[in-house]
Amino acid sequence: MTIEREPDGNAMNAEALLEARGIRKSFGALKVLKGVDLTLARGEVVALIGPSGSGKSTLIRCLNMMEIPTAGTIHFHGKTIGREFRDAGDCTGIGTLRRHVGMVFQHFNLFPHKTVLENVTEGPIVVCGTPRAEAVAHALDLLSQVGLSQKRDAYPNHLSGGQKQRVAIARAMAMRPEVLLLDEVTSALDPELVGEVLAVIRRLVDDGITMAIVTHEMAFAADVADRVLFLDEGTIVAEGPPDETIRNPSNERLKAFVSRFNH
Ligand SMILES: Nc1ncnc2c1ncn2[C@@H]1O[C@H](COP(=O)(O)OP(=O)(O)O)[C@@H](O)[C@H]1O
Ligand SMILES: [Mg+2]
Repeated sequence: MTIEREPDGNAMNAEALLEARGIRKSFGALKVLKGVDLTLARGEVVALIGPSGSGKSTLIRCLNMMEIPTAGTIHFHGKTIGREFRDAGDCTGIGTLRRHVGMVFQHFNLFPHKTVLENVTEGPIVVCGTPRAEAVAHALDLLSQVGLSQKRDAYPNHLSGGQKQRVAIARAMAMRPEVLLLDEVTSALDPELVGEVLAVIRRLVDDGITMAIVTHEMAFAADVADRVLFLDEGTIVAEGPPDETIRNPSNERLKAFVSRFNH
């Protein structure tokens, strides 16, 4: 892997795989993120919780530079991603970052005119130049892991929401990401389909995949996260292990927030 930018002068957290420092993001006059720090160590699972509109999606999108921060820096393997060159192609490191930091969205975003198998093989073949036979073998393994081997030739509009989301997760994993970002991946699902998707995510957690998970599933977050970040109005107002955040919050805003969920 090559990221062209040099590390900056600050001492890095030796454990940090992906790190956001001092992230600010505005849309016009709207200040969405007001200086946020987030560190993901290798193998760590961080849950990002907070009210709707607090900036969770914006923050997680900044982590792989799908959204370019207004200020602040993103570091991957200790190297600063060069936002100042964001239009100049892969020499910025942004393309490389996105290949290594996968993302799954609330609304699946599958290619509707491609089969399940083609959805999963597309990235490796087109973006990484993986030989087709190798991409197919890996995709079939991933589809088996998410319980969808029998749907390999189906088109997305013939799948349930839970099945679509499991394909989307397999598609992200097909790129062999070092970090996986999940943005409310169960929020668009009928309640009876949430469990099958959470089970797939839990397996990834057990496999040691480094993850940032935006979720309103408080019990699940408490269960799988090493650390929980509570974002409110563009600022991290509380951070800590699930026992000190979701299960026993001391911060008043966090307490009010988690009390709205049954867990
Ligand atoms: N591309 C955009 N252009 C303008 N405003 C945006 C854009 N993306 C998000 N916002 C605004 O930023 C705020 C935070 O949004 P978001 O990060 O999606 O919050 P969350 O995921 O916590 O619900 C909201 O007020 C939203 O309307
Ligand atoms: Mg969101």
